[in-house]
Amino acid sequence: MEINIRRISIDDVSVLSLMARQTFNDTFTGTCTEADMLSFLDQFYSTAQLGSELLDEEMYCFFAEADGVPVAYLQFKEAYNSFPEIKRWKALELKRIYVLAGFHGKGIAQKLMDLFLGFANEKKYEVVWLGVWEHNIRAQKFYEKYGFADSGYTHDFPIGKTPQTDKWLWKFLA
Ligand SMILES: CC(C)(COP(=O)(O)OP(=O)(O)OC[C@H]1O[C@@H](n2cnc3c(N)ncnc32)[C@H](O)[C@@H]1OP(=O)(O)O)[C@@H](O)C(=O)NCCC(=O)NCCS
Repeated sequence: MEINIRRISIDDVSVLSLMARQTFNDTFTGTCTEADMLSFLDQFYSTAQLGSELLDEEMYCFFAEADGVPVAYLQFKEAYNSFPEIKRWKALELKRIYVLAGFHGKGIAQKLMDLFLGFANEKKYEVVWLGVWEHNIRAQKFYEKYGFADSGYTHDFPIGKTPQTDKWLWKFLA
């Protein structure tokens, strides 16, 4: 299997929307009502919303492709609003890293993470950070492997009317 990473363009918005909906649903199904899930997917993963993110020059969006077919995506951006304490540093947020279920454990997420950390180091960010659902153990273990640590800060991340809590993880760069 040959893995390639490429920047996502606005022409890919329909594919991105399908992948974003699929992977979010696979990850969080059963943790909220079906109605909450559908309204969340429509609000955050519509082609209109994702199209505006793809046109945002400060948002970096990449596909990982297996033999030419997109199987994972990554989004990151310099951001501070939802985590006020991070404002003390020059900070880059890993906003989303999602791999289709059939491709977990194959080193694809690692390639995306390496790209993200390489970018952060090259641009001299002081810290990288991300939010992860408190019960998403697989993702937390994945981040731990890269040296992300629990900042001790949390954040409400409701899916529709279902309350959920995300931990903010961070990793300071040399
Ligand atoms: C999180 C994600 C990107 C990690 O990619 P991955 O290819 O699964 O990562 P890896 O297999 O390298 O690492 C996952 C670690 O979780 C652990 N793990 C594996 N299966 C697990 C399971 N069923 N439950 C808990 N932990 C598990 C292992 O420790 C593994 O590390 P290892 O290499 O030491 O075995 C991917 O699982 C994913 O897309 N998940 C769904 C979307 C998601 O949760 N995104 C993150 C939102 S914050």
